[in-house]
Formats: sequence, structure tokens, C-alpha cells
Amino acid sequence: MSRSAPTPLSEILAYLNDIGYGEIYRRSRPVAIAAPPAAPELTVPVRPPMPTPALSTPAAPAAGAGLRLAEMESLAAAAAACTRCRLAEGRKSVVFGSGHPDADLMLIGEGPGAEEDRQGLPFVGPAGELLTKILQAIGLTREEVYIANVVKCRPPGNRDPQPDEVQACRGYLERQIALVQPKLLVALGRIAAHALLGTESPIGQIRGRWHQVQGVPTMVTYHPAALLRNQALKRPTWEDMQQVRDRLRAG
Ligand code: URA
Repeated sequence: MSRSAPTPLSEILAYLNDIGYGEIYRRSRPVAIAAPPAAPELTVPVRPPMPTPALSTPAAPAAGAGLRLAEMESLAAAAAACTRCRLAEGRKSVVFGSGHPDADLMLIGEGPGAEEDRQGLPFVGPAGELLTKILQAIGLTREEVYIANVVKCRPPGNRDPQPDEVQACRGYLERQIALVQPKLLVALGRIAAHALLGTESPIGQIRGRWHQVQGVPTMVTYHPAALLRNQALKRPTWEDMQQVRDRLRAG
């Protein structure tokens, strides 16, 4: 996967200032900083797995990137015609996913809002603008990552997706993860974390730690929309995303 030019220092400083790091000092000489002890991977209580609905795409992992891309396209076409749950009734678009189909990092949100429903793309409203800045702050562009949601159709009035709607859409998300084969996943917010981890633990207890989803190390952090409502969540989110950046860089 190609990397873009580094984010200008001025943009990173503006973002850090925005999230509460008001004073940043330049060191006169390099100082050795001991790495913080690695946070233990959390074992969360897991609900008994519910059967995944069979989708019309093959279940076996496709080998090459070309085959995976072709399968992703047929999966998107299947989703575009999906009527598995009531969310199909009110949608303008099916918001399947966007970004690099071979990305090292895949981020998963809750479900489309009004702007996403209008444009057919994930995270293009106000929360999406903040997500773009967060990604820039860890040296990534949206084109380099893959972004998807737990449910692909907008829940009316931006309500939480219901468990049966999450379940109806689960096969698409699981297959997207299998096809992208990311090195790391990020679950954005409670709904995504609960759907991916099969837990109902409060987000405050499961964020900032590494979990495993389909064999992929997965960081849970706050949803960008929550950061827009509560500035105090910006700093812990930045700390979570620094862990993501460091683990990506470590390969
Ligand atoms: N919130 C989400 O969880 N996903 C989107 O695509 C937009 C807002």
C-alpha cells in the first residue's frame, strides 16, 4: 500500500491544540523516553455467536488482491439490492464502504447519518470531517484506509441500529473485513465495539485496549460524533489512536 506525503507539522500541531495539548515544547536535545508498558489484551464476555446470514458470495478467502477486489465489488452490488431488514425501506443509499480495498487500517462506525445516506459514502458529515483530521494526525489519509459501518442503511432519525438490523448486516461487514485483510481494525464507538466484540461492556471499560476480531488486532475508541458533543473525549481518543499509529508503524 502506498503512503502519502507526511502531514505538515502545522496541521498536526493545530489538531493537537484542538484536542487540548495547548503547550507543546521542543526539546533542545533528544531525550530517551521509556516505552509505556503494553496494555493487556482484554478478554470480554462474549455472547453466544448468532448464525451469520448466508450471503450469495463465496465464503472461502479469495487469494490475490485482484480476486478480493472483484469479490468486494459483487458484495457491494449484493448490498445495494439488500432488503434483509426494515432499514431498506427508508434509505436513499446503501452506504457500503470506501477507501483502499487493501488497506492496513480499517475503521468501523455505527451506521450512515443523513449526509452519508445522501452521498452514499461513510463518514462524510461533521463526524466524518473530524475523523479525517484524526487520521491526518496519525499520518494517514482517508484514501489509505478502509472505512465501513456496522449497518449499511441509515436508521431513521439517527436512532441506534436494532440488534436484528445489526445481525441482518453482519455478513457484509464480516466479509468486508475478510476481503480487506487489514493489519488493524478500529471500532469507532459503542455500537461498533459491541457488534464486533459481542460484548455489552461500557465503552469506557473496553476502549484504549487491543481486542481480537476475526484474528485482527482491534482498538476500540470513542465515536467522532461523541467527541463533537464532549470535548473531554478528545484526549483519550488521541491516546488510543497513537497506539494504533505505533502498532501500524511496528508492522
Ligand atoms: N457515523 C457513523 O457511525 N458512520 C457514518 O458513516 C457516519 C456517522
